[in-house]
Order: sequence, then structure tokens, then C-alpha cells
Amino acid sequence: MELKAEKITREFIRPGGKTNRFFAVKETDLTLASGKLTVLMGRSGSGKTTLLNMLSGLLMPSTGKITADGRDLYAMPDKELSKFRNVHMGVIPQGQTAIHSLNVTENILLPFGLYGDKPDEARAKELMERLDIAELASARPAELSGGELRRVAIARALVRRPEVIFADEPTGDLDDENTAAVFTFLKECAREGAAVLVVTHENEAVNYADEVLRMNAGTLEQG
Ligand SMILES: Nc1ncnc2c1ncn2[C@@H]1O[C@H](COP(=O)(O)OP(=O)(O)O)[C@@H](O)[C@H]1O
Ligand SMILES: [Mg+2]
Repeated sequence: MELKAEKITREFIRPGGKTNRFFAVKETDLTLASGKLTVLMGRSGSGKTTLLNMLSGLLMPSTGKITADGRDLYAMPDKELSKFRNVHMGVIPQGQTAIHSLNVTENILLPFGLYGDKPDEARAKELMERLDIAELASARPAELSGGELRRVAIARALVRRPEVIFADEPTGDLDDENTAAVFTFLKECAREGAAVLVVTHENEAVNYADEVLRMNAGTLEQG
């Protein structure tokens, strides 16, 4: 899939500020292509998450257009966009999203349950093995370490084999070894045909990138 952003911006209102309207993302063009891993770096507060949320169908741009293989994302009715995101996009969020009443396997299979689709248990098992959490299949999130929870979130995002993968600082709570494993894994997803966008502070991510972008106070720059 080709995900294309054309002249998108996002304006927010900052309560109580001197000038209370500001652009978290200034006019930006960006294309995420199948088979390519794009790394997005930049200081905290520079607009990376805002950009990722717009691209992943969670936040409507103030101006501009985002298309997925030519289809205008934000022209879809809400329900259709939700379903589209569920089927075609995998998001590894910045924070923790495990549901504590479900075990690890159930958490990973959650994206199938939302629309009553048949859960692909073999895919969940394969991902758990790849991410080295297979022995935790029946464990509850409360029993897991931060790094293990992170890997559950990754497995959940990828369980439907999404064509576009977004990861927002996916290795923030991981040690060096697990960080390398996650980048290797995301790179493999790209090699298998996904379009991958990773927001990260890890300099070593550059070694896995087909393209490196930098966000600087709302402006997207090369390298
Ligand atoms: N919902 C919101 N309302 C108002 N301001 C926001 C909102 N979300 C983000 N911002 C502001 O937009 C700027 C960019 O935030 P963000 O995209 O989260 O940056 P990053 O991910 O690069 O750290 C920050 O100044 C942040 O405070
Ligand atoms: Mg962020």
C-alpha cells in the first residue's frame, strides 16, 4: 500500500498561552511506500506523534489530504475508517495498552475480535515465538515486565499482517538487545512488503532505515 500525505497541517489550541493557536505540524508532504522502513527522529514536542496520528487515521489534519492507494482516509465515514485501520494498519503505541482482564494470547488476538473475524491463532503463536514471549501465552499483563508488555503490543499490532505499520517510540522501555531485536523485526516486516514508519530516539535505528526524516518544530526535514 502507498500512504500519501499531501500538504497536511495540524493546528492546536494551547490553553492559556500568549498566542494560543499554533501548528504542531506545519505543511508536510510524505509518502510511505510498501517495502520501505522510514525512521522519524526529532526532539520531544516537535510534532512526531501528531504526524503519526494523522497518518494512521486517528487525527484529522487541519488542512491537506491523506490517501491510501488513492482513497482519501478522512473522507471515509467513521465506521469505515475504523474498519480500514483495523484491517490495513498496525499501530504500536507509545504507552501501555494491554487489557488486564485478558491473557497475553487474548490480548494479541484482540484485533480479530473487534469485527467478529476468525482469530488467526497460528499467526499469534508465530509472533510470540519470534518475539520470545511464547512461554507467556497464558500469563496476565500484570505478571509481565515492561519489555514483555511492549512485545505483546508489537504482536497485537502485527497479528493481522497490516500493510502499513506505525511504531511510536517502540523501544523506549527496552534494553539494547531487545531494541535491536525489535528493529530487526520491523525491518523484516518491511522486507515482506509492509510500509513501516518508526518514531524513535535510538540513533542505531538509522542502520535499519531506508529513509531517515527529522521533525524540527513542526517541520519535516530529510535526514
Ligand atoms: N491534543 C493536543 N492539544 C493541544 N496541544 C497538543 C495536543 N497534542 C499535542 N500537542 C502539542 O503539540 C506539540 C507536538 O506534540 P507531539 O506531536 O506529541 O510531539 P512529539 O511526539 O514529537 O513529542 C507539543 O507542543 C504538544 O504539547
Ligand atoms: Mg511523541
